[in-house]
Amino acid sequence: MSETVELFEVGPRDGLQNEATLISAKDKIALVDLLSTAGFARIEVASFVSPKWVPQMATSADVLAGIKRKSGVSYAALTPNARGFEGAVQARADEVAIFGSASEGFSKANINATIAESLERFVPVVEAAKAIGIPVRGYISCTINCPYDGPTPPEASARVAQALHEMGCYELSLGDTTGHAYPNEITAMLRAVKSVVPNAKLAGHYHDTSGRALANIEASLTQGVRVFDTSIAGLGGCPYAPGASGNVATEYVAARLAELGYQTGLDLEVLMKAAQMARGLRGKGTI
Ligand code: HMG
Ligand code: MG
Repeated sequence: MSETVELFEVGPRDGLQNEATLISAKDKIALVDLLSTAGFARIEVASFVSPKWVPQMATSADVLAGIKRKSGVSYAALTPNARGFEGAVQARADEVAIFGSASEGFSKANINATIAESLERFVPVVEAAKAIGIPVRGYISCTINCPYDGPTPPEASARVAQALHEMGCYELSLGDTTGHAYPNEITAMLRAVKSVVPNAKLAGHYHDTSGRALANIEASLTQGVRVFDTSIAGLGGCPYAPGASGNVATEYVAARLAELGYQTGLDLEVLMKAAQMARGLRGKGTI
């Protein structure tokens, strides 16, 4: 029997957050509803951050209120602090994610906190989530390179991974935020992280700026990672990682994994339709 790899669709959040023109909640809902029929177990659809920092995500509660929730799909939201967590709970997010960084420069630029301050800020979010049984995922950005600080030592990524794991995150998503990593760098980072966090709790989150994200996924498969964050049509980037392009495209990764003999449970035809819809949203500019 062939092995399973899970793709965690992050396009409606990581993809759309970076679009300069505001996209209506209605259009975002249509995209999520189509993605819900593709076979994903988890889709990240919202982000309860400051609308001054990321205006595109200001409609997150409307999106969560408007989607047709498919049974068996967990609809996820980013929550940088206790206030964001309250918003996500009110909007009935099924799970939340805290997001830290392995580098100080990106941590300051993205969430206005040092790494140590961010970890303190995450504690009440995780505690509140545990109290009501909401799973918390942990993102670690800049595990390979930082747009402000340069290369990230693998041990720095491992330190933050260990802290988030001990705090109670059920899974850690390891970000190549700038999308410039090489497979050997991903391997070195994963080896360091795996020395402190069980392999089964790791996910790869690779942006595709240099076109190496697929190669980085294949290197991660060799290291035993079986969950990858991908973005339909390769939408996105990060507002605080200048020049970074979107996550690797879901439909290409799903097709490549099928070629390699892995099962993803995804319907490639639905993915192609969703990719077309996602491309159509770019620059559409309806509010
Ligand atoms: P701050 O300025 O340090 O916090 O921002 P603050 O507590 O002083 O609040 C500043 C303002 O934000 C206040 O409003 C607060 O009310 C408001 P004002 O008084 O100026 O009108 N505020 C909020 N509003 C809505 N929801 C909230 C919230 N909290 C405060 N939850 C903060 C700290 C974290 C809020 C800010 O830095 C922020 O929102 N950052 C978000 C940045 C972001 O969303 N980046 C993109 C997502 S991360 C990513 O893409 C990387 C990832 O994909 C992995 C990878 O690729 O590496 C996950
Ligand atoms: Mg990202």
